[in-house]
Order: sequence, then C-alpha cells, then structure tokens
Amino acid sequence: MLVCNNISKIYKDGTTEVSVLSEINLNIDSGDTVAIVGSSGSGKSTLLHVLSGLENITSGEIFIDNMLISKLSENDLCKMRTSKIGFIYQFHHLIKELSVRENISLPLLIKNNDNSDIRMAADNIIDQVGLKHRADYQIDKLSGGERQRVAIARSVVHNPKIIFADEPTGNLDKNNAKNILSLLSDLVNFNNSSLIMATHDLEMAALLNKRMSIENGSINTI
Ligand SMILES: Nc1ncnc2c1ncn2[C@@H]1O[C@H](COP(=O)(O)OP(=O)(O)OP(=O)(O)O)[C@@H](O)[C@H]1O
Ligand SMILES: [Mg+2]
Repeated sequence: MLVCNNISKIYKDGTTEVSVLSEINLNIDSGDTVAIVGSSGSGKSTLLHVLSGLENITSGEIFIDNMLISKLSENDLCKMRTSKIGFIYQFHHLIKELSVRENISLPLLIKNNDNSDIRMAADNIIDQVGLKHRADYQIDKLSGGERQRVAIARSVVHNPKIIFADEPTGNLDKNNAKNILSLLSDLVNFNNSSLIMATHDLEMAALLNKRMSIENGSINTI
C-alpha cells in the first residue's frame, strides 16, 4: 500500500539546513495500524507530510498503491490525495465559519460528487462519530473533543486507503483519547484501510498493531 525507499528530508532555511529525516525505509500494508512515536521536534509531522505527498522529499522514493508519487504532476498528485488519502492535522485545520456537515463534506465536494450522495455520506459518518445532534453547528461552537471528531470524520468520509493522523488525541483527556482511537481503529477496520498515527503517548501507541520510533532522523521498530 505504502512503500518508501531511502527517503530523506532536509529543510533549507536561508543558509541553514535542517536534516529531519535520513534514509528512511518503510513498508505499510492494507489493514496495518502504525504508531510513530518520538519526542517533540523529532520529525513525526514531517514524516506524515512527506508520506502523504503534502511536502516534497529531498531524496528517495515513495510509492502509494504502486504509484511513484514524486513523479506525479501537481494535478495528478492532488487527484491521488483526494481519492486515496485522509489526513487528520495536528491543529485540525477545520473551517470555523462552516458547519460540521459542511466541513465533513469538503473532500467529497472536491471530488465533484453528486449533492445528494454527499449529504448521505456526510450524515452517515456524522452519525458514526456521534455528532448527529451537532451536524448544523458552526465549528467554533464545538468543544475540543467534538472538533477532533469532525476532523476524523472529514478524513474518512471519502473512504481513503490510508489515513494519516497527526497527534489525533493530543489535546484530549485519557478517556476521550481512548474513545477517539477506538473510533479511528473501527473506521480503519471497516474500510480495510491503513492508519499511520503520530503520537508522543506510548499508551496510545500500544493500542495500534505496530510501533515505530523516530530519533535523530532514523526510524526503528519498537
Ligand atoms: N518548514 C520548516 N522549515 C524549517 N524547519 C522545519 C520546518 N518544519 C519543521 N521544521 C523543523 O523540523 C523538525 C521536526 O519538526 P516536526 O514538526 O516534524 O516535529 P514533530 O516530531 O512533529 O514535533 P511535535 O511532537 O512537537 O509535533 C523541528 O526541529 C522543526 O523545527
Ligand atoms: Mg508534530
């Protein structure tokens, strides 16, 4: 599903170079749920961003569904991301002026789905994440945990093959964090997709099938 060979990422900031990822190799299959742990600044978000095609790598190769993503045009990369990838951002990136349903519908609007299909798919996932009573609420009226559930719903509404989750439980208490994680695991199982989750919380990482740690630019199975 996702294969990467010797990927490196160096940020260039003026004359300074920051090497964040160094010759990383990974092989993630359908159904895998993988936790990436590491201290703050170790490169977890960077790894998720490059694996999902949000950011360029400096060297190496990434294949998603046997497609070499660095060889795709901007347009094809965008199409690949809207059909195959769901991303839960570390800082949500929900549109606060829009309602719960409108935010969740966005990936389907980009794909140009029929309006009644969009409504049905959005309402179905809103129900699954337990936000039926909040469907027409504007985002800025929701609690932190509710916003997190909207971000999760938006990342899975288009049935992506790979879900990237960047600290999806970072701002939640332990109970809510466990609920969010089991919701995410259920959605992944239901769609037979894969989950790659960055977290600094080893207790959360223990709930997934595989664990890897990132340190000094390298990744190791733990
Ligand atoms: N656009 C950028 N330009 C330059 N350096 C960057 C850029 N983005 C991230 N970095 C640096 O890369 C390193 C890794 O950042 P990253 O956000 O991937 O860490 P992280 O493991 O996700 O941390 P956290 O747990 O705090 O979210 C940090 O030292 C950061 O300062
Ligand atoms: Mg991060």
